[in-house]
Amino acid sequence: MTQQPIIEVKDISINLGGAWVHKNLNLSVNRGEILAIVGGSGSGKTTLLREMLMLQKPDSGSIRIFDHELTTASRLTLLEVQKRWGVLFQQNALFSSLTVQENTAFPLREHTELDTKTINDLAILKILLSGLSADAAVKYPAELSGGMQKRAGVARAIVLDPELLFLDEPTSGLDPESAGAFDELILNLQKTMGLTIVMVTHDLDSLWHVTNRVAFLGEGKVLCVDAMAALVKNPHPLIQAFFSGARGRTTQRIYD
Ligand SMILES: Nc1ncnc2c1ncn2[C@@H]1O[C@H](COP(=O)(O)OP(=O)(O)OP(=O)(O)O)[C@@H](O)[C@H]1O
Ligand SMILES: [Mg+2]
Repeated sequence: MTQQPIIEVKDISINLGGAWVHKNLNLSVNRGEILAIVGGSGSGKTTLLREMLMLQKPDSGSIRIFDHELTTASRLTLLEVQKRWGVLFQQNALFSSLTVQENTAFPLREHTELDTKTINDLAILKILLSGLSADAAVKYPAELSGGMQKRAGVARAIVLDPELLFLDEPTSGLDPESAGAFDELILNLQKTMGLTIVMVTHDLDSLWHVTNRVAFLGEGKVLCVDAMAALVKNPHPLIQAFFSGARGRTTQRIYD
């Protein structure tokens, strides 16, 4: 089966603070897959995510998403493309003065002409789909647990029915039970909405349980992209060091 990748990053290089963070980095993401980005601290995971979201421009190279070249796209094209993806930032970035329902409805108010009732109904639907109860919809973020806040962030990220979802460390800071439940949510969303998911994570349970492929960043490049079972056998010293370290156990959550 040959299919045009939904994301195609080609030969990107970026120099930050005098050092090359990426040097001719390549990565393709297939439609419908769950791909994780891993690598040591400072290997450029967040930078790569920011480049794909066009929050940071690489010095050279090409980033194609939905068949649009983003590095040279107009503001208008970027706005159109951005509506087709959802993002869950590490700190959720929920508005603290808005309820969960108002937070979830926000992109619909910004980007659609729908009437208030339809907007509220769609927001509730996505809140329920994210595994929160209708009771949670009227609460403010500060009234929710960390796991519930992540789910509210997901509800907002999927409210415009995106094709692509970016998640930055979605299970970090969650207790093992909530993290496991969040993994199930990711799998469910991928199935029910046919989403393509790109996530930065160092959570080994998530890596084993939810991903189709994992891209390992090191030396300014993607050193290997493969299914987890194959990746952990890759002999590259950085990959071996990463997975055989003290945190390289599948039972990591128990020790967190
Ligand atoms: N705005 C910036 N100015 C200078 N250097 C930067 C900037 N942003 C990132 N860097 C450097 O780029 C490198 C990659 O950073 P990045 O945040 O992408 O790493 P990471 O893989 O996400 O690390 P972590 O696992 O610690 O989150 C680091 O050495 C960082 O210090
Ligand atoms: Mg980071």
